[in-house]
Amino acid sequence: MAIPKPSLVLCSVLTFLTLNYGPCHVFAKVYMVVMEDDPVVSYKAGRKNEMRGEEAQKYKEMSTSKHDVFLESFLPTGSYKKLYSYTHLLNGFAVHAKSEKAARILSGAKGVRLIQEDIKMAKMTTYTPKYIGASGVWPQLGGAENSGDGIVIGMIDTGIDPKNPSFGSFSDQAKPPPPNFKGMCRSGDRFPPDSCNGKIVGARWFARAGQASGEFNATLHFASPYDPDGHGSHTASTAAGNFHTPVISRGYNFGYASGMAPGARLAIYKAAYPFGGYMSDVIAAVDQAVEDGVDVISLSMAPSSVSSGPASFLNLLETQLLLATKAGVSVVQAVGNGGPDASSIVSFSPWITSVAASTTDRKYNKSITTGNGLVFSCGGLSPPTPGETMYPLALADDVSIANTTDESNGCQDPKVFIRSLVQGKVIICMIVSSNYYQYDTYAGMIDTIQKIGAAGVVITDRYTGDIDYEYQPIFPTAVPSAMVLSGVDMMNLIEYYENNTARDGDGGVITFGATVRILEGRRASYSGERPEVAGYSSRGPNIENSQMELADVLKPNVMAPGHHIWGAWSPTSDALPEIRGESFAVLSGTSMSTPHVAGVVALIKQRYPRWSPAMIMSAIMTTADVTDRSGRPLMARRDVGAVVAATPFDMGAGAINVARALDPGLVFDAGYREYLQFLCAVPGVDEAAVRRAVGASCPTSRARWCTDLNTPSVTVARLVGSRRVERRVYSVGGENETYMAYVRAPDGVAVRVSPDEFTIAPGGAAALRIVLNTTAPGNAFSFGEVVLRGDKKHSVRIPLAVYPAAVLGP
Ligand SMILES: *[C@@H]1O[C@H](CO)[C@@H](O)[C@H](O)[C@H]1NC(C)=O
Ligand SMILES: *[C@@H]1O[C@H](CO)[C@@H](O)[C@H](O)[C@H]1NC(C)=O
Ligand SMILES: *[C@@H]1O[C@H](CO)[C@@H](O)[C@H](O)[C@H]1NC(C)=O
Ligand SMILES: *[C@@H]1O[C@H](CO)[C@@H](O)[C@H](O)[C@H]1NC(C)=O
Ligand SMILES: *[C@@H]1O[C@H](CO)[C@@H](O)[C@H](O)[C@H]1NC(C)=O
Ligand SMILES: *[C@@H]1O[C@H](CO)[C@@H](O)[C@H](O)[C@H]1NC(C)=O
Repeated sequence: MAIPKPSLVLCSVLTFLTLNYGPCHVFAKVYMVVMEDDPVVSYKAGRKNEMRGEEAQKYKEMSTSKHDVFLESFLPTGSYKKLYSYTHLLNGFAVHAKSEKAARILSGAKGVRLIQEDIKMAKMTTYTPKYIGASGVWPQLGGAENSGDGIVIGMIDTGIDPKNPSFGSFSDQAKPPPPNFKGMCRSGDRFPPDSCNGKIVGARWFARAGQASGEFNATLHFASPYDPDGHGSHTASTAAGNFHTPVISRGYNFGYASGMAPGARLAIYKAAYPFGGYMSDVIAAVDQAVEDGVDVISLSMAPSSVSSGPASFLNLLETQLLLATKAGVSVVQAVGNGGPDASSIVSFSPWITSVAASTTDRKYNKSITTGNGLVFSCGGLSPPTPGETMYPLALADDVSIANTTDESNGCQDPKVFIRSLVQGKVIICMIVSSNYYQYDTYAGMIDTIQKIGAAGVVITDRYTGDIDYEYQPIFPTAVPSAMVLSGVDMMNLIEYYENNTARDGDGGVITFGATVRILEGRRASYSGERPEVAGYSSRGPNIENSQMELADVLKPNVMAPGHHIWGAWSPTSDALPEIRGESFAVLSGTSMSTPHVAGVVALIKQRYPRWSPAMIMSAIMTTADVTDRSGRPLMARRDVGAVVAATPFDMGAGAINVARALDPGLVFDAGYREYLQFLCAVPGVDEAAVRRAVGASCPTSRARWCTDLNTPSVTVARLVGSRRVERRVYSVGGENETYMAYVRAPDGVAVRVSPDEFTIAPGGAAALRIVLNTTAPGNAFSFGEVVLRGDKKHSVRIPLAVYPAAVLGP
């Protein structure tokens, strides 16, 4: 077979999936080149097993020097710098070249399978263990401190602050890492050698592309695994932060935080920075993590757009993650923050567990009361104004010498306030909605109020509009503060103020008569409310390629809490100016939901060490909740204020339920061969494209449709007439169990499952056939489910998402 000519596949932007991060930047001339030669994991040459130890090391060294020789023979000395050799999952390298000509030379060179241009990555308590039921299973796993023991979670993120109490040593001091983990710790600035204390078992950093582009600054970004941003510490603490860590911020104890798997270990691969990151650094991090022997990879980053390659499943990062899966590593990735628009997901492939973000039922109840007895419900994590007394209220404009409430910048300048007028008063500062995201604005306001010695601050919208719950900033302040969220409340507050303020002919204030009291806002209450899909959480349907053709793969896979999540923070970070110096922060985004699932994967892996990544994903998906305890469907936030019943394109299989995920009854499995069959069935993808992307040929037995992949979901983007979908389940229960199939057919579709009843022994397998027929063509997806209910109480839910396009012709 002829070796296909390498093509230049444009790479896509990788982004952080926390809200409120900055823009995308220009990219450096870095190219990632994949060679025809085998990487360590797939080097065959007559052997059955993967190379290990010294042999693998030798092969790595040989591959690395081959890359050097290759570059020397094609490119003039001094015209390039090799940044990395990739040897474990991929055989290739990243090179920083001075001219674009290098790319042309390399893509034409013999031995090159693929070349892809690098691009800048933009950045896109906890009480949650109880909310999703993780703490309920800790007793089965040897108690909180042992839950996740033996499992290593690889965090590919912005690093970690090893001094955060979430990552302190276990009580019995520096346990050795699990025997299969071979990673190492690189010490350095703010990351002393004792940072690897048994909780943190490995730590490295990858910044060569950032250095090549000139953006990496060792003073700001630390030439060590230390986290200059906060994002990486936050996600790591959610996955595996220590049990019962006091969350103290601005001197107040907000409660006790635990990761989902408090006994799991953390391996840190710092590959992103406050300025973003590069895909070539991330690829190097993933390669190293798998080589080191992590069990789970948590990736709160993803491409922000579909690459222009033959398929979204074939971009270099997705295919590398396939190889990680092949090596037995579960990959959990954020689904994106592009919601609520349809097809806004940025994590595409069926081997990745892509996580949507939900709200939780935790609320901070902050309110203010006025002198005439009005009570306004507010946002803000602050102390109350001292005592039972009422404090005079003043609009910032009325106590300053100039027009201080500048449109974009209310209450930012202490100098303009008249000190004698502000003493002891609560000041009303106004903000415009376009600045809700600008955390600097809040930091500036709080700072101003502190400097001028006012008693507190009430923040309102300048145009008295509603401030959506989702966009409300949540950060603790030392000074009493409150944000009025409802537009009606804002109008009433201003009216009350004006009613009680006497003015002269020029509008100057003669007497301030309005009074207010800010109440305690730092105590959480738990309403028991069902989770809602956060508005920003990216939505399906999944897309196959940059032409936005729809794929027969469900995304997102599952949903976990991602909104207003407490987690560890880096005190040196400048990312959120209002909490500079603090060790904990409340963040929102699919970045935050992802490590929840990574922690749960660790719990399942501890319990069932032999399960494949697909089985673990299946256990999480088939047991997820789609209703609350009283049977009401889960909801999704759409446009501001609109809440509708959630579909699988909002929440995947549903809200993660940890107790059930540890006892799923049946699982769907799939391995590398099935994923290859899947790739070879993607419309528009030929054998050559698959070979170029993953270096393997299509299996001889071909799948006809992408729907043939054995996933615990069925998505048909275009159902013309009839589609037969085969599935195979394995029993992981402890006794014989008889299952009955219950179907809720999507509108316009007839569904038959056969057999509709079967008995399965422990370790046994059963084949299922699901036939879907269009009965009434429509112009939208419709949703349903197949539920396999066992007589031993297991319940296995398979979501259906079908677009009934046409009935069969005569
Ligand atoms: C790195 O950052 C520090 C601190 O902001 C600054 O003083 C220094 O000039 C920067 N170095 C470079 C090379 O930009
Ligand atoms: C919130 O605070 C107000 C005022 O202190 C109180 O009346 C109300 O009951 C509280 N609500 C909850 C849910 O705690
Ligand atoms: C203050 O400035 C804003 C625009 O920045 C303007 O609309 C407003 O009229 C000014 N107010 C006074 C009292 O000058
Ligand atoms: C302001 O005064 C008017 C007229 O007395 C009264 O109708 C209105 O209810 C007052 N508003 C508030 C918020 O107190
Ligand atoms: C399960 O069923 C098989 C036959 O179908 C039987 O031989 C076996 O004893 C049963 N096992 C249990 C635990 O009931
Ligand atoms: C689907 O259509 C096929 C072919 O027309 C038919 O044989 C089958 O019974 C139908 N199945 C259902 C569930 O309607």
